[in-house]
This record gives sequence, C-alpha cells and structure tokens, in this order.
Amino acid sequence: MSTVVIVGAQWGDEGKGKIIDYLAAEADVVVRGQGGNNAGHTVVVGDKKYALHLIPSGILYPETINIIGNGVVFDPEGFLNELEKLEAEGVITENIKISDRAHVIFPYHKVIDTLAEKARGDKMIGTTKKGIGPCYMDKVERSGIRICDLMEKEVFIEKVTAQIERKNKIIEKLYDGERLNKDEIVKKYLEYAEKIRPYVDDTTVIVYDEIKNNKKVLFEGAQGTLLDIDLGTYPYVTSSHPISGGFTIGSGIGPNMIEEVLGIAKAYTTRVGKGPFVTELDDEMGDKIRTAGNEFGTTTGRPRRCGWFDLVMVKYAARINGMTCIALMLLDVLTGFDKIKICTGYKLDDKIIDYFHASLNQLSNCEPIYEELDGWNEDITEAKSFEELPENAKRYICRIEELLELPVKIVSIGPKRSQTIVRDNIFR
Ligand code: GDP
Ligand code: IMO
Ligand code: MG
Repeated sequence: MSTVVIVGAQWGDEGKGKIIDYLAAEADVVVRGQGGNNAGHTVVVGDKKYALHLIPSGILYPETINIIGNGVVFDPEGFLNELEKLEAEGVITENIKISDRAHVIFPYHKVIDTLAEKARGDKMIGTTKKGIGPCYMDKVERSGIRICDLMEKEVFIEKVTAQIERKNKIIEKLYDGERLNKDEIVKKYLEYAEKIRPYVDDTTVIVYDEIKNNKKVLFEGAQGTLLDIDLGTYPYVTSSHPISGGFTIGSGIGPNMIEEVLGIAKAYTTRVGKGPFVTELDDEMGDKIRTAGNEFGTTTGRPRRCGWFDLVMVKYAARINGMTCIALMLLDVLTGFDKIKICTGYKLDDKIIDYFHASLNQLSNCEPIYEELDGWNEDITEAKSFEELPENAKRYICRIEELLELPVKIVSIGPKRSQTIVRDNIFR
C-alpha cells in the first residue's frame, strides 16, 4: 500500500496543486474527493501556467489516472471547458474517470448561490458562486441528481423537471429572481451527458484495486481545513469536508487505507471570503505579502487577505487531519522582511489560550501572541537544498517543525517544479 492524502492546513490556496503535480511524477493515481470547481489549483511547468478547478492536478502526466470521486459536486459545463482548454494545450486527457455517484451542479444551483449571497447582505459568506453549497444542500436533502441519473435519459428528465419546477418557485418567490427555462437546461444537459459518458465509472472500485495492487495513490484535497463544514470557521466555510477524513467518504475507501497525511501550509496565512482571521495584517505589511506572493484568487481573481503564520490554527489542523508531515510553501515570499512572526498563542480576556475556539465571537476577540524571528534578504528561489538556504530561513523552518512537532518534508521556494526542496520521502 502506498497512499498519501494531501490537505490544505489553512484556508485554501496553500499550493496544493503545485505539490500534487510534483508528487504525481511518481504517482499512479490522483483522486479528488470533495468540493467542485470552487477550487483553483495552479500548476506551473516551465513558462506555462495551468489553472485546474475540477480536473485533478495529476493531469499533466499522461499515464496517471485522474479520478473525480463520488464526494465531488460536478459541474459538466465547467468540466468540459477545462477539458477543452487542456486539450488545446496538448495535454492528454484520456485517463480521467468521473464517479457515477458524484452529484451534478445545475444552473439553478449557481443562481441560488448568487441570490442567497445577495440576500445575506453584510453577512455574506463570500462564496465562489459556483453553486457548491446549493448542490450539497440537495444531496443532503436527498433530492440531488447524480451522474448515474444523468446517464439514464428518462430518469434524468423526470428528476430534473421536478427540480426545476421547485427551484423556480424558490428563485421567484423567495429571491424575486428570474425563472429558468426547463427545456434549455434539459437539452444542454443531455448533450453534456453524451460528452462525459466515456469518462464515467464506478471509481470506488478503481481506487480500491489500485491501492490493493500497491500502486501509488495521491488524494488531492481541495479548499483547506479551516473551510471544513464541521471543523472550520462555520458558517464562513465551504459545504464539504476538505480534511483527511473527507476522503474515506468522498472516494469510498476505509480509513485504514490512508498511510500518510501531508499538510500543505503557506509560510504565512491567507484567506479569501469573509470570516475571522486572528493574524490578519490590515496594513502595509499585509500589502507587502499580497504583492510578493501575488495573492489574488485563481478562481475568482479576488485579492486574498494576508497575515502571519498562525501556529494555533495549523496545530489544530495537524490534529484533526492526523498529519504526518508538512510542506511549507511560498517561503520565498518572506524574503526581505526584517522580522518574521509566528503566532504561538491567542490572548482572550486576559488569558492565554493555545486552542482554536469554536465560537466566532470568541475567535474574533482573540489577539495574536507572536514569537519574532530574524528575516533574511538573500534570494532563495534558486536554492537546491535545505543546506543552501540562509541561516535565518533554516531557523524559521526548524522553529515551525519544533512547535508543530511534525517534520517539514518539503520546502517550496517558487511556483515551478524545480523550486521544490524535498528533505525526505513522502511515499513510504
Ligand atoms: P491551491 O489552491 O492550494 O492549489 O493553491 P493556488 O494555486 O490557489 O495558490 C497558490 C499560488 O502560489 C499559485 O499561484 C502557485 O503557482 C503559487 N505557488 C506555489 N508554491 C509557491 C512558492 O513556493 N512560491 C511562490 N512564490 N509561489 C508559489
Ligand atoms: P482551493 O482548492 C480558498 C472559500 C470561498 C468562501 C467559502 C465558501 O483553491 O484551495 P464556496 O464557493 O465553496 O461555497 O465558498 O470558501 N473557498 C476557497 N478559498 N481556496 C479554495 O479552494 C476555496 N474554495 C472555496 O472563498 O469563503
Ligand atoms: Mg486555490
């Protein structure tokens, strides 16, 4: 058995795409198990930049099987656009498999996502408006439409007709929005059905067989731990389980099939969308990180909120994911800072706490307690080994390792594949 789950340790955009692509060079299978095309995973190869949303980040390796698992919410339009773009760039896309159990995103999900956000006013979540939440709502409410339904014309037409009638009532009566045209949706989706049919399979069997045959399997988390519907900063979260446990359900494997859990953490913290952020830097320091790290969303282009590394949060993430190691990303962005800070605790009502509070009210009253380390000015983007890094950069990495009680096995010093320092094997 040789399996590695890769999860975001913060609020998403930690660089999961880069690491999945890097490790996919030796992987046989890459599996997505949750989320949808709200994800934006960037892979840089030479001068080319690929923005992957729904298609797993192992796609640049023609031999690797790329699975969209049952826990994913699948937007056929988004998928086909992405596929077309990749094919136009010469990427071989034959090895994609889509779970017959994945739920399908429809136009009404996207419309309701947008209208519900508007109705929330200043309490808006800041969703990607891709229809993710409304699609998962239907799944849990047991009225969702799955890929296997889309594959059976009569079944599909019956289900989608009932859904559109219901959703039009919600759109018109609750949100004062515009009705959707049933015939147009049915026609469009029947066309999509034929285009995606060759990729559809029972992916739970493929994943199981590959693991049993000792193949190397990577599980590609989307979003990040603090966006988890149960364990994140609820309600400012996504509607799925981006944590390691999400893969047992989202790809149909037993928990004993997960060997390694690699947490992907930025050397600082970012967040898109609303919600509390204890170490946020709402000043020129935050601007400096945003500019140096080019912190603008891959999916929506929104500027990301930036702040120092929050150890309280990442420690929490390490615990609930059962992380076995860490990849510390975007370290190069911290070059040129006099001092670099790590938040080691929170001050709440004159008490010092080292845990991550469930209550957003309490969390927003937490003040960060920082440990300050000396920075470095040397360019680190060409370093080929840990030893070549400036002493203060090494100290920063080692301090994070010490505080987290986890090995930092990968250090990333730029977006390219070659800008990756691997200190220890990831696959066992
Ligand atoms: P994901 O959603 O976790 O896959 O992350 P995103 O792709 O949304 O955001 C990470 C961004 O950082 C992308 O633009 C990457 O190309 C870029 N990136 C990844 N690793 C590094 C790194 O070590 N240094 C720098 N400067 N950029 C990086
Ligand atoms: P990757 O995989 C960062 C955020 C949105 C919003 C909240 C809910 O690229 O790391 P949703 O559309 O999911 O209902 O939005 O979650 N969000 C992400 N933030 N990275 C992502 O994905 C995200 N996917 C969703 O900004 O705050
Ligand atoms: Mg992203």
